[in-house]
Amino acid sequence: MFSHFLSLICLIFFFQGAFAEEMVYITIGTDAISSIQQKKIASIKSLRSEKEITLLSVPESKILEISELMHDKFNRCGGFIYHSNLEKAQEAFLPPKLNKEILVDYSIDQEALVDSYIKKLSTENIVETIRKLSSFPSRYYGSENGLESQRWLKSKWESLIRKREDARVELFTHQYSQPSIIVTIQGTKAPYEMIIFGGHGDSISQSSEDGQQEMKAPGADDNASGIAVLTEILRVIMQEGYRPEKTVKIISYAAEEVGLRGSNEIATRMKSINAKILGVIQFDMTNFSGSSGKINLISDYTDSNQNDFLGKLIDKYVKSPWGYGKCGYACSDHASWTKSGFIASFPFEGPMNAHNPHIHTKEDTLDKSQNSAIHALKFAKLGVSYLIELDK
Ligand code: BES
Ligand code: ZN
Repeated sequence: MFSHFLSLICLIFFFQGAFAEEMVYITIGTDAISSIQQKKIASIKSLRSEKEITLLSVPESKILEISELMHDKFNRCGGFIYHSNLEKAQEAFLPPKLNKEILVDYSIDQEALVDSYIKKLSTENIVETIRKLSSFPSRYYGSENGLESQRWLKSKWESLIRKREDARVELFTHQYSQPSIIVTIQGTKAPYEMIIFGGHGDSISQSSEDGQQEMKAPGADDNASGIAVLTEILRVIMQEGYRPEKTVKIISYAAEEVGLRGSNEIATRMKSINAKILGVIQFDMTNFSGSSGKINLISDYTDSNQNDFLGKLIDKYVKSPWGYGKCGYACSDHASWTKSGFIASFPFEGPMNAHNPHIHTKEDTLDKSQNSAIHALKFAKLGVSYLIELDK
């Protein structure tokens, strides 16, 4: 009798184990909650709601469904932030604390040096990197190709730093297969101070006719174009023998498209080691130019002093029209850094109402930017001038 009872208990545990779904935590715009409720997805729970942010616990398998809903109804592509545990999710409600100890010098006085570097940047290299990255059927964070594309990038970046003993490339691994990739160039005078360049290496397709694994997500603009800008900046500073005074990090983040997951983990790690970061710049969508050709400095979830500095750099070195605009939500990896209290900016390809309409579909290809990288080149110029003027 007792042994029967035991086997019944075991059976219950077995079935619980077999069917229990991993629950994850997301914070999402409160305006989206009623639409999510209408979907009647079982076992979603609202845990906390304050003004514009609501915290939900969601079965991991339903994340994609929510991301599709956000895309179709709100024109936000994922539109939520993923958190690995409840404690971290609760932090989304705290106001960001800025590391006030850091006083950054935003003077602009390196004209000769900046101009000599800018001259070496070329659209052809940017085009080549975009072509290569967008030739992977997808760079989805959970797919084999998402892993392969980051491996390809790692070896590309390794080849660019091969002559330098002060530089290294590392994988930053996560709980899923796609790693983030980090290049570090050790600073000569103040190695504990860092300047961070980043963009996301993953892509996604939200057209529902494609299955997630076979879906085509070339992501030429979102965000092969940002990774190609980072690659061209790295190429030129290595080729010209630039030895930074501060430590420079160049990062391709994993899993941005599913809730800023890679950058969140990296920024949280940097915060936990109390890293001294002078500034972070995000390149995400750089090559689709609206008729104005304007660079749009995203003004929310970013640092206004650093944004003003970027505006001045654009006037002096890039010589392009520019303006300010809001994403309206935590739309890319800069927000992970801001949330961890770091100074971050996000120069974006154009006004929000005129951005590339093909992103997150199989149509996000280089021909939508006339098979050129004329617009992206501006962002490489901005990156190089940001580096040289900040690194002194
Ligand atoms: N590159 C986009 C962000 C973007 C799109 C900025 C259009 C400005 C205009 C990014 O890759 C993205 O898709 N972000 C997600 C948010 C994320 C938290 C899943 C989005 O926009 O919903
Ligand atoms: Zn995207």
